[in-house]
Amino acid sequence: MKEDKDLLLDRVRELQKETKAVILAHNYQVDEVQEAADFVGDSFDLSRTAARTEAPVIVFCGVHFMAESAAILAPEKTILLPEITAGCPMADMVTVEGLREKKMQYPEAAVVAYVNSSAAVKAESDICVTSSNAVQVVNSLEAEEVIFVPDQNLGNYVAERTDKKMILWDGYCLTHHRIRYEDVLKAREAQPDALVLVHPECRREVVQAADHTFSTSGILRFARETEAKSLIVGTEMGILYRLRRENPDKEFFLLHPGLICPNMKYTTLPHVVRALETLSPRITVSENIRVPAQRALERMLAAAVA
Ligand code: 13P
Ligand code: SF4
Repeated sequence: MKEDKDLLLDRVRELQKETKAVILAHNYQVDEVQEAADFVGDSFDLSRTAARTEAPVIVFCGVHFMAESAAILAPEKTILLPEITAGCPMADMVTVEGLREKKMQYPEAAVVAYVNSSAAVKAESDICVTSSNAVQVVNSLEAEEVIFVPDQNLGNYVAERTDKKMILWDGYCLTHHRIRYEDVLKAREAQPDALVLVHPECRREVVQAADHTFSTSGILRFARETEAKSLIVGTEMGILYRLRRENPDKEFFLLHPGLICPNMKYTTLPHVVRALETLSPRITVSENIRVPAQRALERMLAAAVA
């Protein structure tokens, strides 16, 4: 007898044929949702795929800002976020009003928004970045001063790799900020032969203590290419699904037991089925915000070769 999961996966495929929908999933999604997806990637991969796909419907399995970016880049398509309450607490740490005040304080500065931000904040910004291209994009700017929102940790990571004056916001990811320097020491003590890979949303001292820092897709790429057989991973635990599937001969350890983003776990297969059946919840962005936000995202897509 087929298991519930297989029945749900069959139903997803059937509905996809009817709706011609493509399913995109972030690397942190639950295993079954990653299994259902046509494409799994980091924020940059997903925005690029959303911009390029010919499918009329995109089921975006991730958090709100990701589906919103797809709606900004592909306004003619139907963008569905299967679980509407899946947000990103860090994205909510910067508001348009706050950013406008900062812009008045530093009128010469370019405004760089991490994609983990609302459409309205993107619309107030000159260019967007993701964790895979932030250094490259900031270094490509003409301005000497940069207001960077909302992640202080990614901002610090860039600041150490650029000559620009970085004016940082004090946002952070609740999940990655949880990791402390001592956790890296403890993990190395427990697995002395393992390499430590972390996401740039980690605290500066954690990034400095790690062996390498990458976006989620960068971690996956490194894991495939390295000779190392043992890797300690400092990012959300959803990444373990692909790491273990793609590298059955390697061992993976989580740097901290609390590396779980609740919002990334809200979306389940029944939500995906319901979204395809009802073509909802749909994400749209009003044109007055979408057009300037699209300019900021497209500048990133043009500047980045990630
Ligand atoms: P990536 O772009 O590296 O996948 O990161 C997205 C994110 O939300 C990290 O917390
Ligand atoms: Fe936002 Fe952090 Fe969750 Fe990524 S892991 S979606 S930055 S809260």
